[in-house]
Amino acid sequence: LPRVNDLDASATGDVPAAEAREAFRRAAELAADYLEGVGDRPVLSRNRPGDLLAALPAEPPSGEERFEAIFADFERLIEPALTHWNHPGFFAYFAISGSAAGIAAETLAAAANVNAMLWRTSPAATELEERTCDWLRQMMDLPAAFRGHINDTASISTLLALAAARHRALPESRERGLAGGPAPVVYASVHAHASVDKAAMTLGLGLGGVRHVPADGSFRLDPSALRELVRQDRAAGRLPIAVVATAGTTSTTSVDPLRRVAELCQAEGLWLHVDAAYAGSAAICPEYRTLLDGLELADSIVVNPHKWLFVPVDCSVLYTRGYAPLRDAFSLVPAYLETEEPEVLSLMDLGVQLGRRFRALKLWMVIRRFGVEGLRRRIRAHCALAAELKAAIEREPGFALAAPVPFSVVCFRALPAEDPNDDAATDRFNQELLRRLNAGGRGFLSHTELSGKVVLRWAIGNLRTTRERVFEVWDQARSIAATLRAEGVR
Ligand SMILES: Cc1ncc(COP(=O)(O)O)c(C=O)c1O
Repeated sequence: LPRVNDLDASATGDVPAAEAREAFRRAAELAADYLEGVGDRPVLSRNRPGDLLAALPAEPPSGEERFEAIFADFERLIEPALTHWNHPGFFAYFAISGSAAGIAAETLAAAANVNAMLWRTSPAATELEERTCDWLRQMMDLPAAFRGHINDTASISTLLALAAARHRALPESRERGLAGGPAPVVYASVHAHASVDKAAMTLGLGLGGVRHVPADGSFRLDPSALRELVRQDRAAGRLPIAVVATAGTTSTTSVDPLRRVAELCQAEGLWLHVDAAYAGSAAICPEYRTLLDGLELADSIVVNPHKWLFVPVDCSVLYTRGYAPLRDAFSLVPAYLETEEPEVLSLMDLGVQLGRRFRALKLWMVIRRFGVEGLRRRIRAHCALAAELKAAIEREPGFALAAPVPFSVVCFRALPAEDPNDDAATDRFNQELLRRLNAGGRGFLSHTELSGKVVLRWAIGNLRTTRERVFEVWDQARSIAATLRAEGVR
C-alpha cells in the first residue's frame, strides 16, 4: 500500500476546483436550455424498451472521462430517453413541476450533501425542516398541535402514520410483533391509493388487514358502510385500528367526508390518517380548504409538495399531533448515535430510515420565491383551466364527463359512433384515442378505471402549462375521436 504522503491529491481527491466550477456552469446552462425548450419535445420518449440499455457500455469506464464527453452523452442518450414531466403538455397521473427555486435548492443541497439524521449532523436541515413544515401547516390552516417532517413519498408517509396507529393500538407489538394478538384492521375507501395496501403488507397486517369501504356515486367513502365494517370486524374478534380517508383520490380527486369519518373515528377510538397527497396543496387556498372540512381532526395527514406545490420530486410532508406518536413507534438510539444536545429534534427518531436528504431547502426556497399568494394564484389558475376544459367536454357531442371536478383533474370518456352503451367497445375506443393522442407528442394523458370502465384523466398541474396548450391538445382529442368514428373503431 502507498503511504498517505505519497498519494497525489489530483489523483485521489475531487476534480480541480476550476473544472468543478465549469461543470456546474455547464449543468446550469443545460438545465436552463432544457426547461426553455422542453415544450417543443414530444412529452413521451420515442425510445423503445432497451434502446438506452443497448447504447450504454456494458462495462464501467476504468479510466477517467472528461465532463465534456459526459454532458454530450447526457444530451445524446439520456435526454431522448426522458419522459418530460416538466413539460407544458404533461397531463398524466398528477402533473407536477420542478420550479426554478426548487431546482436551485436541489443544487445547493447536493453541494452541502448533509445527512439530516440528527440535529448535530446538520442543524440547518433539522431546524429548516421544522420551520418550513410549520409554514405549510399554517398555509393549510391546520391546528398548531400538528408537527411535520419530510419523507420521500406519500407511500412512506402513510406507512409511518399507520405504524404509529398500530403502536397506539398495540404498543406491545413493538417488542413482540403481531403474533398471538388480535388481527389489526385498517379501513380505506375503494378509491384509496394502493400505498395503503402496501403499508398493510409491510406492517404485518397483510392485505387481508385492509377493508376497502364502498364509495358513493361521487367516489367518496360511505361512512355508514365504514361503521358497519368496523362493527363486523369487532364482532369477529378483530381489532380495528385506523381509517385512511383520502382528500383528493388518485383517480378522480374526490374528497372523502372527512368530518363524518373523523367523528366516527373518535367514537370508535380509531386513528384517522388523511391522505391529502394531492389536494392538500389546494388547502392553502381558503376556498379549497373548505372542501377539506374536518382535515384538522385527523391524527395524521400527508401532503406532497412535490405533487402540486412546485417542489421537485421528492418531498412529502407527514403531520402528526406532536412528534411523540412517531417517536414512540420508531425511536431506537444505538450508542454510536447518542448526542449531548438535550431537547433537539432528531429526524431519525421519526421513521425507519436513519439517513435522509436535506429536502427542506427546496420547500423553503419555493415558498419564499413564490410567496403564499403566488402559490395560491398558481393553484387557482390550474383549477380554473380544469373548469374551462370540463365545460368544453360537457358541451362537446360524443364526449361525456366521468366524474365531478373538484380541483384540477378532469375525468371523461369519448363515445364511439355506434352503441355508446356498449362499455367494452367504448373502453377500446378510449384506449385507442389515448394511444394516438399520446403518440402525437403534444400532450400526455393517462387513464383510470371507474366502475369497471376505462376513463381518460386530464391532470393540470404543471407550472409551464398554458391555456393554449390545453386547448390545442383538446382539439387533437376531438379530431382523433372523429377519425376513429369515421374508421368505425369500437
Ligand atoms: C392520493 C395518493 N396518495 C398517495 C400517492 C403515492 O404517492 P407517492 O408517489 O408520493 O408515494 C398518490 C400518488 O399519486 C396518490 O395519488
